[in-house]
Amino acid sequence: DWTMGAYREEAIRLIREQVGDKQVICGLSGGVDSSVAAVLIHEAIGDQLTCVFVDHGLLRKNEAEEVVSMFRDNYNIPLIHADEADLFLGELEGVSDPESKRKIIGKLFIDVFQKYADQVEGAEFLAQGTLYPDVIESVSFSGGPSVTIKSHHNVGGLPEKMGLKLVEPLRELFKDEVRALGQELGLPASFIGRHPFPGPGLAIRCPGEITREKLAILREADAVYIDQIRKHGLYDEIWQAFVAILPVRTVGVMGDGRTYDFACALRAVTSVDGMTADYYPFSHEFLGETATRIINEVRGINRVTYDVTSKPPGTIEWE
Ligand code: XMP
Repeated sequence: DWTMGAYREEAIRLIREQVGDKQVICGLSGGVDSSVAAVLIHEAIGDQLTCVFVDHGLLRKNEAEEVVSMFRDNYNIPLIHADEADLFLGELEGVSDPESKRKIIGKLFIDVFQKYADQVEGAEFLAQGTLYPDVIESVSFSGGPSVTIKSHHNVGGLPEKMGLKLVEPLRELFKDEVRALGQELGLPASFIGRHPFPGPGLAIRCPGEITREKLAILREADAVYIDQIRKHGLYDEIWQAFVAILPVRTVGVMGDGRTYDFACALRAVTSVDGMTADYYPFSHEFLGETATRIINEVRGINRVTYDVTSKPPGTIEWE
């Protein structure tokens, strides 16, 4: 009988067999896949694993703190927090073309990861949370615009460049199986159930030029939106939900005054694998209440719209 408990034991045995007494580096993205891979590998080889978390300054509100406290403080997994926001945001200054943004982020990500990984003495292996669908997708979709750097946390080409061998303990699993394994490993349910988050982060939810001001507004609006979704018990029904801040200011009224602030778009979709998606049919009541909360609680936004595009023809992200 095949159970997650048995899979875990077998995976641990194979990791030990592959790695021996050598050092392993794992790139943490804060997502479920890399987290489950890290915890599993840590269970197998303990302190022979060092995690590198590249913080590009494009994460959601409190995200970096949550990842660091979970891995370093709760799990005692050696973790390098590479706070490189200045570098990434500096290079992205004035860039508005979506593919240019992705290329810049992807390249910097690799440079930064390599810089920190070089500090881990004697590392011979690179661990990745590659799933079975990633294995297939990287073949059939290579070169497609929205997935060119989809694998950038699965740092393509880097292992060879750094002379590292790959450890990919989730290679045979689908997403729901990774979640089951995460549960088996004792990761908090709230963490396992988290919506996917793209490698380029908030950069692709901020169409047009990225500024620190826009990112700060976006983080706040996104936090209110997700809070609303959780309060209404809808989080687990939704594949992904987020706010995109639009590159346009619009006129509004607040009290006696006129405002001239950013507009934002709410996005929420259902999906099985992210390849196709339907927009989520929120009630008008929910949408109205959420718009009111965002406008009241987030300074810098005075107009809220809901994106009713499904995929295809839209993509889930805005860029
Ligand atoms: P799209 O926008 O292409 O997104 O419909 C499909 C799924 O992929 C995620 N996504 C990415 N994930 N790096 C990632 O790690 C990326 O560059 C990237 N682009 C999109 C997106 O969040 C959705 O889950």
